[in-house]
Amino acid sequence: MSKESDLAAVAEDIAKLKSQFDLADKSVPGEGNPDSELMIIGEAPGHLENKTGRPFVGRAGKLFEKLLMEIGIDRKDVFITSIVKFYPGQRAPSQKEIDLCLPYTLKQIDIIKPKVVLLLGSIAIKALLGKNKSITKEHGKLVRNELGNLFPTFHPAAALRFEKYLPVIRSDLKKLDSMLQLIRSL
Ligand code: URA
Repeated sequence: MSKESDLAAVAEDIAKLKSQFDLADKSVPGEGNPDSELMIIGEAPGHLENKTGRPFVGRAGKLFEKLLMEIGIDRKDVFITSIVKFYPGQRAPSQKEIDLCLPYTLKQIDIIKPKVVLLLGSIAIKALLGKNKSITKEHGKLVRNELGNLFPTFHPAAALRFEKYLPVIRSDLKKLDSMLQLIRSL
């Protein structure tokens, strides 16, 4: 079995959860390079992701794509997904929705085995680092746990709402870039 076929099997399993999400049109299992050294995990699909079945294609996604390019990363070269794989509506996903989808994100991490997982926003941080963790405290610091190397920062949607987060995300991504360069040199 290849990583591609394993990820496709996970995507098929994810699609079976659709009936649990009233507003979902398409599942958004994630996409990208299965051999990527970097995996990126956001919160939940928005309106445009729901229509297309692709993660991070809306306004926040476009901004994030630009920020990634600033550290020389093309989104095509990494694997991008979200904790919740279906559009929950214009609200934060519920704990039930997070719990329902979490096993599939864990399977994706296990298949891809990235060197670093970039966590975007509070939902991803709480789901993978622990419910007591705060983005304000944890962002920009590498955390090692049983899932591997996790690196949290703010969600790009936060920077669309409040400009003050933009330089913070940029500075965190610079640290991530240095970390990836160090890893590559080992
Ligand atoms: N925000 C996310 O966290 N994920 C998406 O796919 C789109 C926006």
